Amino acid sequence: MRSSALVFALVIGLIACGGKGKAADTTGGDPPAATLYTRLGEKPAIEAVIDKFLSNVVADARINARFAHLDAGGVARLRGHLVDQVCNATGGPCEYKGRNMVESHAGMNITEDEFNALVEDLVKALDELGVPEAEKGELLGALGGMKGDIVGK
Ligand code: HEM
Repeated sequence: MRSSALVFALVIGLIACGGKGKAADTTGGDPPAATLYTRLGEKPAIEAVIDKFLSNVVADARINARFAHLDAGGVARLRGHLVDQVCNATGGPCEYKGRNMVESHAGMNITEDEFNALVEDLVKALDELGVPEAEKGELLGALGGMKGDIVGK
């Protein structure tokens, strides 16, 4: 009698453990996919990309006149907005506080060639910093979606 009670207790114990094991198993399986923000290298990497990108834009005779009106404070403001925008769009913890893309570029009549030139300057920055193809493609895809709000406004 005593031994069957012991077996019963053991069986209940094993079932309980099995149940617990299953419940705890929610942490098993594939880890959550890392955001593009994380894979890019978080905020310092995004700042480095934007800094290189802006220096490429300044050196790009196809589009630099568009930014010629900006003084140092204006460039710093634009830089901050771009960092926050890319950080936010890639899943990072930043809040973009600038104007939306239609408002930002309203009345500028930006052409498709100018848009492509700016994207080329960004690609150059990403290549110069060794950003891998997959991450580069994802970032360009996210920004490419803004084209309709920027060109011809
Ligand atoms: C995906 C492409 C682009 C993105 C993500 C982007 C993003 C931005 C952002 C975040 C701002 C600041 C908004 C604010 O101040 O509230 C801005 C402003 C501006 N952008 Fe763009 N832009 C893009 C394409 C272009 C192109 C192609 C040009 C011209 C060649 C351009 C020229 C400007 C200019 C001149 C300003 C205003 C700067 C100022 O006066 O403060 N942008 N853009």
